[in-house]
Amino acid sequence: MWVRIRCILLVVYWTSWLTMLAGAITLVLVTPKCSVADPLEWWQISPIYQVYPLSYQDSSHPPDGVGDIPGIESRLDYIKDLGVGAIWLSPIYKSPMKDSGYDIQDFRDIAPVFGTMDDFHSLSKAVHKRGIKLVLDFVPNHSSNLHEWFQKSVKREVPYADYYIWADAKGFGTEATPIPPNNWRSVFGGSAWEWNQERRQFYLHQFLKEQPDLNYRNPLVLEEMKNVMQFWLDQGVDGFRLDAVAHLFEDEDLRDEMVKDEDATDEYSQLDHKYTFNLPEVLDVLREFRIVLDKNSENATKIMMTEAYMPVEKLMAYYGNKSHPIAHFPLNFALISASQKNITAQSIYTAVSTWMNNLPKGAWPNWVIGNHDNSRAATRFGAELVDAINMIALLLPGTPVTYNGEEIGMEDADVSWEQTKDTAGINAGPKKYKQFSRDPERTPMQWDAGINAGFSNANQTWLPVNTNYKTLNVESQLNEKWSHIKVYKQLTEARKTEAIMNGGLDIHILEDSVLVYTRVREGFPGYVVVVNFAPDTVTVDITNLAHMPNESSVYTFSTTYAHSFTAKKRISNSAVVLPGKGGLVLTFVPDFPKEVISL
Ligand code: GLC
Repeated sequence: MWVRIRCILLVVYWTSWLTMLAGAITLVLVTPKCSVADPLEWWQISPIYQVYPLSYQDSSHPPDGVGDIPGIESRLDYIKDLGVGAIWLSPIYKSPMKDSGYDIQDFRDIAPVFGTMDDFHSLSKAVHKRGIKLVLDFVPNHSSNLHEWFQKSVKREVPYADYYIWADAKGFGTEATPIPPNNWRSVFGGSAWEWNQERRQFYLHQFLKEQPDLNYRNPLVLEEMKNVMQFWLDQGVDGFRLDAVAHLFEDEDLRDEMVKDEDATDEYSQLDHKYTFNLPEVLDVLREFRIVLDKNSENATKIMMTEAYMPVEKLMAYYGNKSHPIAHFPLNFALISASQKNITAQSIYTAVSTWMNNLPKGAWPNWVIGNHDNSRAATRFGAELVDAINMIALLLPGTPVTYNGEEIGMEDADVSWEQTKDTAGINAGPKKYKQFSRDPERTPMQWDAGINAGFSNANQTWLPVNTNYKTLNVESQLNEKWSHIKVYKQLTEARKTEAIMNGGLDIHILEDSVLVYTRVREGFPGYVVVVNFAPDTVTVDITNLAHMPNESSVYTFSTTYAHSFTAKKRISNSAVVLPGKGGLVLTFVPDFPKEVISL
């Protein structure tokens, strides 16, 4: 019954919409067919917006130059207006901030710099009041060395003695220097082992030495962390992004890892991480976390997104299967990887099609173009392509994950050695810090052209504000006729349509430099995304794409194309003229009776 009512409503909705779009003729094409897919869930419909709390909004009195929870609450109307459906907060827990909050001292408390538990409850209430969901970062692999468990583990206190991974020295060198148990390296460089003089053993840290790895071979650890998850679910959160999951287990025999690439510029990449990364046991633990989430999902799904950088074919195992689901989706970094090297229509096509072709049946895709660990999308792809990349990510099948600032095309900032905060950069030293520091992509949100870009009234902010803030900020983009944020909002709006939510995907390369894909669902307006990666103008004929009529109507276009297109203008599909570097979204009435011709 509900499906039929929804179907009728959709026909009425689209009929009126299409009448405006292309005249009465569309009525005939649209009304005869109507099939409605199963309704999608909240985490599938709108983008998930990553907020980096340190840099979002400082609301302290007096201001301290650091973002906080009430600051995020004060920006919720902005977030709602973007059209995103959920906020994922990077860690807000009590922490000495050696790894910007990913080193947690108390999994159940809030860092004073961000506020209090009351502030968190107030934020959660305000988020939910606006119909948005709240997802937290969950860091299962390690704690801070200041965590009570670690302090007690050092002292071999029961039951904490084996909460972490301890190992004897392999021997002692000159001046009785302890020799680490094996050659394992930390992701941030150097040995993954740190000697503890008090316990007279080494402990393992796959990240900083201030982030000792928890021991998941001890069942008590898993129980503890499941309880932490339940604690936050009881506070009303809607799911988690699970941090660094592929590092949860290591080889029990502590075997040395083989050298894979002696010349790799960072030490970690020199070894083949056969014994420390993506061990089969990881999926068993993640499955246990998923069970906790499912038990709490009677009213609405509690989601799990996992973070692991690995080839797509391997990553797909993180979906689990129908009888044993694991992640709702493993975060998909294929577009990030594709933008580390030469960016072409082909490299983006390969990233998208590889993901889609490997996707297990019934699994839900997702697209990430940036985060707090990678150079900003605008810097990696180039500022001209900002809108085009958002078009690609937001209109493909699946959930886009947007890192705060990407909606306005924020760029990496130049952070000097003296200003560097990221320990990964500091540890690399003044000559090499730029290669490792993640500070450039973590600088404060650029709200307006006022003091510190409207982020804080403090004399100094924790990281410098990007010097381009006077021209690149939210306020000016909202006031401009055409801007990144306006394109972004149009894209989130388009996601409310049947074609984008439930339509098929047909993706091609035209004229070498143009990536084109359609989203079509019979009985509803279709969309086509056309992106020219070359610097010069290219004319493409898109009439051979499946279900494509002779004409379509301009839906949205890159700011770089602002002089070439006008919204709603009808254009001929046989000669779409694309200036260099940018994207265009067209909408059309799918031509279903026509025979499908594959390109
Ligand atoms: C994840 C986080 C990163 C952090 C690391 C260790 O990769 O995204 O910021 O440094 O885990 O917790």
